[in-house]
Formats: sequence, C-alpha cells, structure tokens
Amino acid sequence: MQSGKLITFEGLDGCGKSTQLEKATKWLTLQGCEVLKTQQPGGTRIGKQIRNILLNPDHKELHPESELLLYLSDRIQHLTETILPAKAEGKMVLCDRFHDSTVAYQGYGRGLNLKSIESIITYSIKPYTPDLTFLLTISPTTVVDRLDQRKEQSAKDRLDIESSKFFERTAKGYQELASAEPERFVCLDGEQEIEVIHQQIISELQDRFSIG
Ligand SMILES: Nc1ncnc2c1ncn2[C@@H]1O[C@H](COP(=O)(O)OP(=O)(O)O)[C@@H](O)[C@H]1O
Ligand SMILES: [Mg+2]
Repeated sequence: MQSGKLITFEGLDGCGKSTQLEKATKWLTLQGCEVLKTQQPGGTRIGKQIRNILLNPDHKELHPESELLLYLSDRIQHLTETILPAKAEGKMVLCDRFHDSTVAYQGYGRGLNLKSIESIITYSIKPYTPDLTFLLTISPTTVVDRLDQRKEQSAKDRLDIESSKFFERTAKGYQELASAEPERFVCLDGEQEIEVIHQQIISELQDRFSIG
C-alpha cells in the first residue's frame, strides 16, 4: 500500500482551489488512488458549526482573536478526526485550505499577532505539515471578477466583501510562506486556463509521488 499523503490547495478566494481540487481528485481516482477530498474550514461535524459562526454576515461583533481561535479549533479538529486517520489508511488527502490560510488571512490579512498564531500552529499542526501545497496566485482584481462569476450564496459571505487591500496583504502573506518552504510549496499562476493549471498539477503529482 502506498503511504498516505496530505496535499493542500491554497490561495485567495476565487483563485481556483475547488476547481483544481475536484479535477485532481478525479485524476488521482482514475490512477487507482484512494482519495479523501476535504475542506477547511468545516470538514467535521463540529467544524461545520464553527464555519456557520465564521461566515455569518450578521456576526459583525466577532472579535478577530476569537475568529483566529475558531479557525484553529476547526483545523485541529479536522486534522485529528479526518486527515490523520485517512493518511494512516494510505489515502491521498486533498484539502481545500489548511494552516497556511490561517497565517495568510488572520496573520497578514487581518494583522493579528503572527507570533501567537505561529506558536499554536507549531505545537498543534506543524508536526503534521502537508506533503505538498499548491498555491494558486491571482490578482486581487481577479478575486472580485471570479466571485461575481461564481454567484453562489457563499460569494456573499463575510470573507468575500473584504477590501482589495486585505487581499493584497493576504497574497503577500502567502508569498512569504511559500518562500520560507520552497520544497513544500508549488506556486502556480491561477490566471492561466483551468486545463493548463490542471496539467501542471498532474505533472507535479507524477514527479513527487510516482503516480500515473
Ligand atoms: N483558471 C481559471 N480561469 C478562469 N476562471 C476560473 C479558473 N479557475 C476557476 N475559475 C472560476 O472562478 C470561480 C472561482 O473558482 P473556485 O474554484 O470556486 O475558487 P476557490 O475555490 O479558490 O474560491 C468559479 O466560477 C470557477 O469556475
Ligand atoms: Mg472553494
């Protein structure tokens, strides 16, 4: 049995994470891999309740530090309940956002104390760092265009009505994370055609994990 891997998809809202994760899941399944597709936040029963709190546009009084701790609680719950057991069974776990989102969004985007975020992550999440992270990059103006296109209810959620300055700070955070761990991160230009990006992802999966 092949050993399980954790592969995360990161980037700004609308960068194409869900689109690419779906296509990668289909491709990996066709190659005979057992795949678990999961998401952040909200992969577990408790996580879904946390997500309802985080994304409710009425929750304007949600304190940034509370928001941070809610995100981290969900990630830790998701890691222990879902990701680690699946990896132990030899599955390819594809995760839509993971701890890098917390650092990029809450640390860089919202300007919370990076050291306090990192200390929680170091103890609770870092021992289980993803094997591979795809970072899809798009400009903050593309964020707005893509979210308009998507026209889902979620496009109206609290995250999507943030300013472009917020997205610029978040994008900078992602860049710094990628520079700090160049082996783990594969940065792809999310403004390319969907199929072109998919082929780049396949090629990376083939090279790294000898699949396909
Ligand atoms: N490479 C791309 N080029 C053009 N549109 C894209 C591309 N990738 C995704 N989209 C579209 O942009 C919107 C957001 O994509 P999605 O995969 O939901 O992003 P995310 O999960 O990162 O928020 C969707 O309407 C999707 O069809
Ligand atoms: Mg998505």
